[in-house]
Amino acid sequence: MIIAVDGPAASGKGTLARRLAAHFGLAHLDTGLLYRATGLRALLAGADPADPAAATAAARAVELSDLADPRLREETVAAAASVVAAIPAVRAALLAFQRDFARRAPGAVLDGRDIGTAVCPEADAKLFLTATREARAMRRFKELQAGDSGTIYERVLQDMTARDARDSERQAAPLIRAADALELDTTALDADAAFAAAVDFIARKLAGK
Ligand code: CDP
Repeated sequence: MIIAVDGPAASGKGTLARRLAAHFGLAHLDTGLLYRATGLRALLAGADPADPAAATAAARAVELSDLADPRLREETVAAAASVVAAIPAVRAALLAFQRDFARRAPGAVLDGRDIGTAVCPEADAKLFLTATREARAMRRFKELQAGDSGTIYERVLQDMTARDARDSERQAAPLIRAADALELDTTALDADAAFAAAVDFIARKLAGK
């Protein structure tokens, strides 16, 4: 079984994907980490993340052990991730890793931007999470503030607006809801309610097969 969870930054994808994986006994892959690891490798090499050759070399060098690097959580790395993610050769380089992960037994939950549309269009169930930009910026602000009390909300909102635009407007696998995905707006829906709605949808999907 493959479950696809897509949506913009801080829409609640990661929390939902982790809970669904535990509930259904599946593996979980946060695919954003692959783009973050690519961005971080480009930055550490002193390269411009927008340089296709450097970014593609970085994507090809990504290893499983990269995904545990705490620097991946930094906002500079998130910004670099969305820059490298617009380069088709980077996406192609990371595709095999994601598909291999999804197809390994007993199945997996993958969260990202293009899982239901490009990585696993054959997924058994697809969820698309949204929330207002302000709600998402406030969540990310609180997460960041826990580590750095100097974090400024307006700055987080600005960065998120720029990243949303890059992710939605790029040519290569833009953030878009798959036609057969259940859309959940988490602005006023807590993690438990989102999880309950998702489990209900997945159960109905599986019963209909
Ligand atoms: O956690 P957050 O939603 O802030 O970001 P993330 O999921 O770690 O993704 C970081 C960046 O990687 C995004 O802004 C996207 O540009 C890119 N990404 C992508 O293009 N495709 C995916 N399947 C996952 C992430």
